[in-house]
Amino acid sequence: GSLPEGTQIVFVLGGPGSGKGTQCDKIKQDYEVVHLSAGDLLRAEVASGSEVGKKCEALMKEGKLVPVAVTLNLLKKAMIESGGSFFLIDGFPRALDQAAQFESAIMPAKAVLFFDCPEEEMEKRLLKRGETSGRSDDNAETIRKRFKTFVDQSLPVKEQYLGQGTCHVVSAVASPDEVYESVKVMLESLNAPKKSCGSKATVPE
Ligand code: AP5
Repeated sequence: GSLPEGTQIVFVLGGPGSGKGTQCDKIKQDYEVVHLSAGDLLRAEVASGSEVGKKCEALMKEGKLVPVAVTLNLLKKAMIESGGSFFLIDGFPRALDQAAQFESAIMPAKAVLFFDCPEEEMEKRLLKRGETSGRSDDNAETIRKRFKTFVDQSLPVKEQYLGQGTCHVVSAVASPDEVYESVKVMLESLNAPKKSCGSKATVPE
């Protein structure tokens, strides 16, 4: 399989708990986009009980990155299977090698949306979510390790895209609705495809 002509990709990046998933859920309601979260794909792989999943589970509990080939394969497969042509890729690339390999195996992204949020705020959100999420990485110790991985390996990716002029930085400190207002401005500037009126309703009137 392959991706349709004219496929466009936006990488959605930001620290752990910066609100990538929350904002992608909002975007999906208004725009004709396919949202793929690297973390969600990995958690599904872990849940499947596969050998690959078992290896990933241990790394994720330590707040470390799983091997680049694993996320790249999962993303590529999901992109093709979705049948979509405008993608929000959430939580990828998180390291410079991931960015380079995605670009050569698939294509360069049209833009990067980066959510900027202070560490204290992200920690507060994740500890709160940890009370109910059941995510094995939402505890104080793993959160600290996720922040370290983010600073050491993922921030250089942001710097690279800033240098290329493709990275849009949005402050993620305000309420989800307020953050989304800034996100929409960015999506409009990219001409992201809007949902037509009819397709928004999921339940018949
Ligand atoms: P992943 O699942 O991507 O986790 P993450 O990056 O740590 O991000 P989160 O999903 O925890 O947070 P988010 O930014 O989506 O915020 P959310 O909207 O949920 O990755 C998990 C692990 O998988 C990694 O540690 C790694 O091991 C592995 N992995 C993933 N990608 C990989 C890759 N590319 N390569 C290798 N390994 C990879 O919001 C968080 C909370 O805050 C929620 O409760 C939400 O309700 C709340 N909230 C959101 N926005 C606001 C707001 N504006 N105000 C108040 N509360 C808010």
